[in-house]
Amino acid sequence: MEIKKVCVLGSGLMGHGIAQVSAQVAKCDVTMRDVKQEFLDKGMSMINRSVQKFVQKQLISEQAMKEVLGRIHPTLNLEEAVVNADLIIEAVPENIKIKQSVLTEADSYAKDGAIITSNTSSISITELASFTKHPENFCGMHFFNPPQLMKLVEIIRGVKTSDETVNAIVKVSERMGKETVIVKKDSAGFIVNRILVPALNEAFNLVWEGVASPEDIDKAIKLGLNWPMGPLTLADYLGIDTTFYIAEVLQGELGEKYAPCPLLRQMTRAGLTGRKSGKGFYDWTKK
Ligand code: CAA
Repeated sequence: MEIKKVCVLGSGLMGHGIAQVSAQVAKCDVTMRDVKQEFLDKGMSMINRSVQKFVQKQLISEQAMKEVLGRIHPTLNLEEAVVNADLIIEAVPENIKIKQSVLTEADSYAKDGAIITSNTSSISITELASFTKHPENFCGMHFFNPPQLMKLVEIIRGVKTSDETVNAIVKVSERMGKETVIVKKDSAGFIVNRILVPALNEAFNLVWEGVASPEDIDKAIKLGLNWPMGPLTLADYLGIDTTFYIAEVLQGELGEKYAPCPLLRQMTRAGLTGRKSGKGFYDWTKK
């Protein structure tokens, strides 16, 4: 089955970008669903800003931009969003209860043979698949932030995921202009976050222990390792709360050596979540 219609559940930092690449690069018809009009409006305004950047750089024409926007249909109605979709990509907050409720409902409206995927960065794919009637048609489809620019999609097999599902997701990811890697076993953090999150956590430990300032830690890693952003800027960019949550999952599934730094916990509790709240290690209100 060729994937022509995509439904993205969630219009936040990841959802809006996934909807955009589905419409812009893979040229699919896209429904983007969220639970509040203000969330949808924010998602559409991020998409507008992003497509305009592509136009300014002459990577797409004004006409193509209009076509991309015309292919994205924001909606509050879950049934309407899901009912005709060949592929459903869940990108709601990283909370298993929310994911369970959205996936169970979406599955009840999905057409026969639809593939359901999750953009989760840490939750077990096998467990998420168990919330649907056809776990063989379910897998992880993990994009990176910002999805419009980052080249990778991690494809994660759940215990029951079929080869057909994996092959279809490899193909559609390639149509979205992405490179893919296959995570053969459903293991916490998959590949990238298993390596990234302990590294970010270690940067928090350096601040917590007073070894160096946040600015110097970022400078060291940018210039010493050629990362495009230092680890603390990156944690701000991704969300300190999201980073904390992933660290907790790694600790729970893989052991104490992955325990989150107390500073990660404190900043999350204080609402210093980074770019999305305006303040983390850095002030994002002026950017
Ligand atoms: N849409 C379109 N264009 C965009 C954009 C978007 N959403 N965001 C940025 N850009 C463009 C900017 O307009 C800019 O264009 P010019 O060069 O023409 O000015 C260009 O991209 C570069 O942006 P900036 O100048 O703002 O900043 P930058 O040079 O630092 O690049 C970046 C931004 C691509 C995000 C880069 O900093 C980077 O690669 N950072 C690391 C990101 C990363 O590691 N992501 C993965 C995180 S892990 C994850 O996502 C998984 C998880 O589960 C937690």
